Formats: sequence, C-alpha cells, structure tokens
Amino acid sequence: MTQSESPFLAAIRESNRQGRDAWSRFAGHRERVTRILAGLDRDRSSLCILGAGNLNDVSLGRLLALYGEVHIVDVDLDAVRSGLARQGLAGSKAVHVHGPLDLTGILGRLPPKAGDGREEQGAANALLAVLASHRCAVPNRPCGVTVSAGALTQLIQSVVASALGPLEAVRVILGLRDKHLADLVHLTRPGGVAVLITDVVSTTTAPQLLAAAPTGLGEQMAELVAARNFFTGTNPYRIAALLEQDDRFRDLVRDVRLLGPWLWRVTADRQHLACAIVPSRAAAQPS
Ligand SMILES: C[S@@+](CC[C@H](N)C(=O)[O-])C[C@H]1O[C@@H](n2cnc3c(N)ncnc32)[C@H](O)[C@@H]1O
Repeated sequence: MTQSESPFLAAIRESNRQGRDAWSRFAGHRERVTRILAGLDRDRSSLCILGAGNLNDVSLGRLLALYGEVHIVDVDLDAVRSGLARQGLAGSKAVHVHGPLDLTGILGRLPPKAGDGREEQGAANALLAVLASHRCAVPNRPCGVTVSAGALTQLIQSVVASALGPLEAVRVILGLRDKHLADLVHLTRPGGVAVLITDVVSTTTAPQLLAAAPTGLGEQMAELVAARNFFTGTNPYRIAALLEQDDRFRDLVRDVRLLGPWLWRVTADRQHLACAIVPSRAAAQPS
C-alpha cells in the first residue's frame, strides 16, 4: 500500500493481485459471460465493461470481432493492463481504458476500521445521500451494451470492510446496489442492453451446490434466496423486480431477463453461484 492509498483501494488491488492467475480457473465462467455478451443481437456499436479488472471473465478477442469498440472501466488499472496483455490486446486501438474510476462514488468517504475495531455510528445518511445523487461518468458513454462484470460484490465488500456497524452497513450496501444499477442503466444507450453479472452465494455457506446438476441450479438459487442464504444486496429476484417496478427504473427499462445461474470457480477451494440479470433499455421516445 502506498502512503496515500486508502485501505479499501489497497484491499481491491490485493484481491486483483491474487486473482491474476485465475485465467484457467475462470474458464467455465468466462465462457458463460462471453456467450451472453456475444449473443445480444441489439446495438453492437460499443461495449462498456464495468469492473473489468484482470479480464479473466471475458474473451475480449471474440467480443472485439462483434463490437465496434470496447470501453473498460476499473479503479485498478494495473489489473486491467495485465489482463489486456494476457489476451494480446495491449495497445489495441479498439479498446479504450477509463480510470482509475471509483464505481461506488464513496470509496474516499467510507470510514476505515480503526485498530480497536470501534464502529462508526451515524455515517450512513450522508453516504446514502451521495449514493442517491452520484452518477459515474465514463467518456464516450452511453454504450450499446454495458456489463457489470462480477463487480457488485466487490463494491459491496468495501462497505463490509468499513467501520460502519452492521445495521448501517446493510443500508449503505442496498443504496450502493441501487446506485450501481442506476449507473448500469444510464451508461447504456436507449434501445441497448445492460447486463449485471453477479455472484449470489458461496459454496462455503451452501455446500449442497457442489452436488447439484447444472439443470438444478435455478431451483437451488430460489431455495437459497428464500432461506436468506445469499450475499447481502445480490438477491437476483429483488434486483429484477427493482428494475421492472421501481420509479427510478420503470420508464428506462423495457424487459428484464434472468440468465443462469451457473457455478463460478472463484478460488481453488470455493465456487460462487452466479447469474446474469439483463434489462433492455427502452428506446428513446420520438420528440
Ligand atoms: C471480482 S473482480 C470481477 C472479475 C473481473 N471482471 C475479472 O475478470 O477478473 C471485481 C472487480 O471490481 C473492481 N472494483 C472493486 N471496487 C471497485 C470500485 N470501487 N470502483 C471500480 N472498480 C472496482 C476490482 O478492481 C475488480 O476488477
């Protein structure tokens, strides 16, 4: 960690360093994500990848054959550079890297944990006010397709690691989830498609997933969510309902599909159940 680097940024960079060798481990997950993005048959002029990091979850060469240009956004550009180099795309004219960009908008405001573990009380309201109004600005936006590439749980992790007490942390996590959905939708052109790839639950708390047939994973996900066994802020049914029904999204989103779930081998000894939530942006109204 450099002197000026926040503990949250240091943790993100360390996590990316540990995931740098995950290319082979991510093969199944990468195939699922790449196929979803390659199968969207709408506006393919540009693709924006939020939380691209090590780029272990997309075969960029395949996507560049379909999309005119790719915009990559992350707070850790070292990870992005090494990911691009691995895929032989360092210096590609069709790939535009933006950042370092904090997708939470609050990384610099989160209270870091003190040595004595004391919780910070009363910080949530100010953080929620920022989350409600802050929009991530990406040059060349909006894109035809915008994907959040497994970033949501990492954004949430910074809140979990902060000094906020558990009740305030949950409020901020839900505010951050809604802000990320709003960014995803607003960074997508009318008539385009947004894709939220997120992990939902770990085999650490749901070991039964390891014995499930791939065709049974949808049922397992429904049961686990009903039993409240999922990462806070990632309930895929709640996210789909928000996008379809909430005032902030209803007029911007046309229909929402839920794809998957599948198992993502996150570490050597842990898999996460992951899925894609795919809202289409409503076409622009003729004026
Ligand atoms: C678990 S990784 C997702 C997998 C990644 N797409 C890959 O293939 O390696 C989460 C990504 O979110 C990024 N991230 C975490 N917090 C962020 C923040 N506040 N702003 C922007 N990106 C963030 C990390 O740098 C990392 O690249």
